[in-house]
This record gives sequence, C-alpha cells and structure tokens, in this order.
Amino acid sequence: MANIACDPNARPDFKTTMELGAVLPQSAEVKDGELYIGGVNTIDLAREYGTALYVMDEQQIRDQLRNYLKWTRYHWKDVDVVYAGKAFICKAMCKLVAEEGCHLDVSSGGELAIALAADFPAERVVAHGNNKTMQELTEAITAGVGRIVVDSFDELSRIDSIARDLGKVQPILIRITPGVVADTHAYITTGSEDSKFGFGLRDGLAFKAVETALDLPGIELKGLHMHIGSQIFVLNSYAKAIEVIVHFMDEIREKTGFVISELDTGGGLGIAYGVPDEPSTIKDYGKVIVDDIKEHCEAHSLPVPRILVEPGRSIVANAGVTLYTVGTVKHIPNVRTYVAVDGGMTDNIRTALYDAHYEPVIANKSDKPRDTVVTIAGKHCESGDVIVVDTPLQSAEPGDILCVFATGAYCQSMASNYNKQVRPGVVFVNNGEARLVVRRETYEDLMRCDV
Ligand SMILES: Cc1ncc(COP(=O)(O)O)c(C=O)c1O
Repeated sequence: MANIACDPNARPDFKTTMELGAVLPQSAEVKDGELYIGGVNTIDLAREYGTALYVMDEQQIRDQLRNYLKWTRYHWKDVDVVYAGKAFICKAMCKLVAEEGCHLDVSSGGELAIALAADFPAERVVAHGNNKTMQELTEAITAGVGRIVVDSFDELSRIDSIARDLGKVQPILIRITPGVVADTHAYITTGSEDSKFGFGLRDGLAFKAVETALDLPGIELKGLHMHIGSQIFVLNSYAKAIEVIVHFMDEIREKTGFVISELDTGGGLGIAYGVPDEPSTIKDYGKVIVDDIKEHCEAHSLPVPRILVEPGRSIVANAGVTLYTVGTVKHIPNVRTYVAVDGGMTDNIRTALYDAHYEPVIANKSDKPRDTVVTIAGKHCESGDVIVVDTPLQSAEPGDILCVFATGAYCQSMASNYNKQVRPGVVFVNNGEARLVVRRETYEDLMRCDV
C-alpha cells in the first residue's frame, strides 16, 4: 500500500466508545471517561506496562471456546474444538485452551514447542503446514501429536518413514481442497483448487492420497480436513463444501471399503471489525456445520464422523485490543490529519497486508463523540504503515492513549521487528486483575541471536 487513497465519504460518526457495539470486548465499560476492559483501567495498563500493548479479555476467550463446544455438541456428541494457534499463541493461551477442554492447531515447529512448553497434552494437538520440514515432522511424531494434517504426497512418505523409524503409527487427516471459494478476502481464501494447501478433488489427487495413505504401514488414516478461508460471513460456503466432502467420503467407501471416521471442517468464522459488520453467530455456525454433515451422511448412509472445528479469529479477535500512545498529530490542510502512534505495522500488519479495517477510540476520552476524521499512522519507515485510514476519532492530542479494537487475532502472531522495533507485551485482564503473559521485548532481545 504505497499511497493511501483518501475516502471522500469519510465523516465523523459522533459515536462514543460504548456505541461501537460488537467490535468491543464483552467486558468494555467506560467510567469517568476512561475505558476499562476486564474491570481494569486501560490508562493504568498503558502507564504500568508501556505502549504499544496488547490487552486481552481472558473471560471472553474462555466464553468463545465454551460457546463453540456448546453449540457444536448440542447437535452431535462427538465434536472437538481445535483452537487455531496461528491467530494468537503463547504459553498462557495454550494453558487456557487446555483448561477449557479444547484441542490445539499448530502450524509450525515453533508453535508446537510453545504448546509442549505449556504442558499442552500432545494427543490433543493437530499439526498443520503445507511444507512441514523433516525436523518439524520428527518433533511432532516424537511428541505424539494426535493428528498430522497432510498436504502432499512427499509428506505422506516422510511421515510413514519417520513413524516407522520411531516404531510408531501416526494418525493423520488428509487435507482436501473442496474447490469452494469462500465469500471473503481473496488473499486469505484457501479452499479453491488452485492452492498450495491440500489435495484437489477434481484432478483425482485427493483419492490417490487416500489410497496411498491406506497402503502405508506407518500411517493410520483417520479422516479428512478442509479449510475454505477466513473471515467468512456467509455460512452457505461451509454448507457447499460439506456437501462436496461428504460425497467424497462416500466415494472412498465405495471404491476402497474404508469408512472415514473424522471430518475437520477448519476454521474461518468471521468477526466484527467495523461497526456495520454482522458476522454469523457461533450458534448458527454450529448448526450449519453439524447438521449439514449429519444430513449428507444420512443421505449417503454413512456413519456420522467425529467432527473437528478449528476456529482461530473468532476465539480471540474481539477479546483483544491494542493500546498506543499518541505521539504527533499532523494536520495537512485539505488533505488529511495523521495521528501517529508508538507502534504500527510491526504490531498490526493487517491493514497494510489486507486493507483491514479497525475501529479506534481515544481511551481517555471514551465518553466523548468521535467528532474528527483522521488516519492513524505508525512510526515505521513505510508510507503504507497505517493502522486505520480516514476513521472517525475523538479529537486527539499527543499523550492520549489510543485504543484499537478487535486486534486479538493475527496481530501479535504476525508482529515483526522491522526498524528494530521491540514487540509489545500481552496482558490478560479479568475480574479487575491484570496479568502479564508475554513481556515487552527489550533491546537485548533484539540482539539475542546476533553472533
Ligand atoms: C488450516 C486452518 N485452520 C484454521 C484456521 C483458523 O481460521 P480462522 O482464524 O479464520 O478461524 C486457519 C487460518 O488460516 C487455517 O489455515
């Protein structure tokens, strides 16, 4: 994003913080004009831990995991919720996921290492990645991960060989690209057949992968996996993909006699980043996923499989906010006003990467209306280093604490050290208490790997 286009329709919306609705963490409240999350004053948090700072509503994360369990198991007893760690992972998050009785999707050796360091039960780990290295596969199989989701023929033979060397048989799922394009941003759609992930159906590769897996002694084929995209608002995308994949389960049984006993439908449920966003509820999602699988299995006289769902964003995004301190306010007459903060693309790359939209407020003026239009800029050496373009905001001054909502997913996990910026800390808040779960980096951390 080199030049930032001005939105000629951008206007102040005169909303105060609490009028931002579903974008806010569930525990957000305003007292004496200041924003509280989890019963903790965000201005105090900024003072104590410094900015930029990620703040996450712990109870909301737990509630989201519980909602997924409740509204999927309501329709079918055999469902597990696999939290997608790529959205946000640290040891405290792994502990929380374990405490809530959920499983964990890891997509690299690094994520697996964090899970194991947090004593996350290996048998509840689902290991992902379109190009897992030999080292990553060996670590996963040695640790005893519950499932490896397989993306290629190379990987099938690697898993077989590593497992046999270790005297093990590794349970796997085969990732299918059902050829259904989810109604979402093109960059994050992975369900179409032109994908680096998984095996296509129409070209017969998916069936060949099943046959190959069934023949390999180091592998136990458990089932199929699909993930059709992210930030999905239209549940019908899932319904279509489920129809296709259950049809494939029937084909497998017909041609090989093998009955698929597990189906992982991936993640992808959308969330409210902006005030107008109206994502589907977890309750509706659970009904569509489970009822559609049941219905299609019945139609094909197939037993209903164990179902896995893999939500990431919808567990953590709205639970998280980022706090910044406003450094400079630059008015460019007849162009725009830049409000620059002490972070930017290093702690939130999504705007530069996806044109993502966010809602910001001035946390210490939370009861005031958003009566100006500004662009929130970061402090990094890229003109595309912006967090929100042409957004309503309360009148900003240097020293104000700016809060950007819905940053709990794919912000900290995608953070970088560009310009040798230290990455922010993460604080969990709950019941009026704050606990630091990831400390802010130091300059020493920046040089830790230099030799
Ligand atoms: C395989 C897989 N599962 C689950 C997820 C989580 O998706 P989301 O965060 O949209 O729920 C992703 C995200 O890209 C993914 O690639």
